[in-house]
Amino acid sequence: MKKPKFQSPTGMHDILPEEQKYFQRIYDVVENIVNFYGFKKIDTPILEETQLFEKGTGLSTDIVQKQMYSFRTKGGDHLTLRPEGTPSIARAYIQQGMFNLPQPVKLWYWGPFFRYEHPQQGRFRQFWQFGFEVFGETGAVIDVQSIQIFYNILRELRLKNLFIEINNIGDNQCRPYYKKLLISYFRSRETNLCSDCKRRLRENPLRILDCKEEKCHQVISQAPQMIDHLCEECHDHFKEVLEFLDEIELSYSLNPHLVRGLDYYTKTVFEISQQSPEGKSQGSLVGGGRYDVLTKLLGGKPTPACGGAAGIERIVAVMKENNVKFPEPSSPKLFLAQLGTLAKRKSLKLLEDFRKQKIQVSESFGRDSLKAQLARANKIGVKYALILGQREVLENQILIRDMATGKQETVKLEKLVREVEKRIKK
Ligand code: HAM
Repeated sequence: MKKPKFQSPTGMHDILPEEQKYFQRIYDVVENIVNFYGFKKIDTPILEETQLFEKGTGLSTDIVQKQMYSFRTKGGDHLTLRPEGTPSIARAYIQQGMFNLPQPVKLWYWGPFFRYEHPQQGRFRQFWQFGFEVFGETGAVIDVQSIQIFYNILRELRLKNLFIEINNIGDNQCRPYYKKLLISYFRSRETNLCSDCKRRLRENPLRILDCKEEKCHQVISQAPQMIDHLCEECHDHFKEVLEFLDEIELSYSLNPHLVRGLDYYTKTVFEISQQSPEGKSQGSLVGGGRYDVLTKLLGGKPTPACGGAAGIERIVAVMKENNVKFPEPSSPKLFLAQLGTLAKRKSLKLLEDFRKQKIQVSESFGRDSLKAQLARANKIGVKYALILGQREVLENQILIRDMATGKQETVKLEKLVREVEKRIKK
């Protein structure tokens, strides 16, 4: 077949009707669970000032260096399609004066995000995330609750073999010293690092720790670990996080090389992925952590915060892979067939009566032949066809045809809704 002239942009996809049921299912589960935990929904603009991400996500991150869709508007503003949600939500928290509200402020979001990545399985240029952020709580319990909520959502979606990884990457008190140690360690082994890590050594040495290149593995495995150099506050916080996790019996794996690719994190970072039979899975489903310095960095009141986000396409892929079944919206049990102009006109009104009564009815008003309409009713698999012809309209009646037996009954139009309800309930 000839390729159509216009294609969706590389790495960006249509979400077709058959995909929507997965998105809807995830949305319903997320909404239900976050409501329970007291979160309120927030939507922020898809565009933000470019500087928000340069400052928030961080200048040395891959996102800011390579992946942002940035442009100058006709009015000269520098804007960027949001590559992630956290800086936008922190900006809204500051701008809307949410620090005046009773703390913590718990917000959740759902929407498309944009990163100019190399498209591959589970990695797109436009992708959907849901996530949540909690502002105004320092306690380790919030870190654990964040992990627990994501875990609960994934379990409710019937995902299995979930794998939680956790680490503590220190804060402004202890990380600078650890960074120095790392730099001096990697410098003495620079020739054994890949070219990306050589650059990271100058710009963001922590990121070397999660390099996926085989070449770097040997060097990384011997590197000093943050856990051994945490200040007392971070150490105690981490200890508490692990104790809470044990308390709620959530199994996790400590990964000293988990650093996450965003600059704002302090203390706890975590990821949840699905473990495949061969071992660790292909990519994280959820990523998050604590970010106690972000609001100050963006010019707001210093406010401790914690949160995370999940990739919706990745969750859909796992649901499909695992053949996850879930209740789907019920399909209509009725089909309204019409014959002749008068009946067609009357049917339009009749359909509205059913809608108001919240009874789902299918139709094919564009078709004139009764045979074609009944064939359609058969295909949909409805239980009853309602047949309205010229004579029935004049006599204020309608036929109810049982599709399985072919038996037909005539009822008065004013009694139709009641009659139909009786039959459907049976
Ligand atoms: P992130 O790890 O960059 O964190 O993204 C979170 C999740 O979004 C990933 O685990 C993955 O499932 C999905 N994801 C990321 N990039 C792509 C992509 N190109 N294609 C498909 N899915 C993708 C954040 O975005 C942080 N804002 C999370 C956070 C919230 N931390 C604290 N609060």
